[in-house]
Amino acid sequence: MEDLEDLERELTARVVEVADLAALEVLRVEALGKKGRITQQMKALGGLGPDERRAMGQSLNLVKTAVSAAIEARRQVLRDLELDARLAEERIDVSLPARPKEIGRLHPIGQTIDELVAIFGEMGFSVAEGPHIETDFHNFTALNIPPDHPARQEHDTFYLPKDETGERKVLRTHTSPVQIRSMMSGEPPFRIIVPGRTFRADHDATHSPMFHQVEGLVIDRATHMGHLKGTLTAFCRAFFGVDDLPLRFRPSFFPFPEPSAEVDIGCSRVGEQLKIGAGSDWLEILGCGMVHPKVLVNCGIDPEIYQGYAFGMGIERIAMLKYGIPDLRPFYDTDLRWLRHYGFLPLEQPSMVRGL
Ligand code: DAH
Repeated sequence: MEDLEDLERELTARVVEVADLAALEVLRVEALGKKGRITQQMKALGGLGPDERRAMGQSLNLVKTAVSAAIEARRQVLRDLELDARLAEERIDVSLPARPKEIGRLHPIGQTIDELVAIFGEMGFSVAEGPHIETDFHNFTALNIPPDHPARQEHDTFYLPKDETGERKVLRTHTSPVQIRSMMSGEPPFRIIVPGRTFRADHDATHSPMFHQVEGLVIDRATHMGHLKGTLTAFCRAFFGVDDLPLRFRPSFFPFPEPSAEVDIGCSRVGEQLKIGAGSDWLEILGCGMVHPKVLVNCGIDPEIYQGYAFGMGIERIAMLKYGIPDLRPFYDTDLRWLRHYGFLPLEQPSMVRGL
């Protein structure tokens, strides 16, 4: 017979050293298997006298129990370690970027709308919407453009066939009718922008029958031209990323604001290259003004209490200027080569914090 204390000490010491479950199983078989060291000792008991056999038998059982317990305890530790290792290896970082190339590209119009929503959103504007098919009232009359007004001719309007009531609806020629809809359906103050599609029967190198505008409207109790200038200056500087971008407010005429202005931004031309920023040239980018009192009255708002400003700008135009896109027509061609070149990665959302 072996010395039982030595046997127990040796086996339990080795159990603690074992590095993985497979090695632990080998050791278990060596100790407790059919031909294991402890099993051999059990068999050897048969050659002893009765008293000695009983005493040795009890001791051997204690050894067996201790070694089995040590193996079980080690098994639990090794299982936990293996699970930890597996979890670490299989961990997925859901914040890692995907592979945007395989997802596709955002169209510059969508990107530009996201950017301007981010900028105006920071300034407290919310986004409003209206229908593409408009009534004559919302698109023209309520905006102080009565039926015989010459401004109607300038709009190259798409008219729909008369309906059963004799009404002739239009495809909205600008986003300004959403000013009317917003004012008629809510209570002032208002602070909205309206990005959306607009339609005019005009088609050449610089005009498309469908294009996009963004309208802005602010109505409150003490709103003045200074607010208009400040808001549009802040917007243009943030959008074009030029901190000292000069703006020129030029007197102009629209029927629905009074006074009206057009806004130019500074630029310079070096050969074929156009550079946005302080320079010797100007580029017109939007129309704006103080909302005409008649428009407020048309919407049931008292112009003695409320005033405000509005503006409208072409989205294709500012996108072309910002991103150096030379031609309008490919915007609507669904040409993947163009989109790969001028498009944007879909997971990079513009924000004022992370940059546009
Ligand atoms: N609706 C005008 C256009 O399509 C742009 C515009 C001018 C919008 C002046 C306005 C404004 O809100 O006040 O050309």
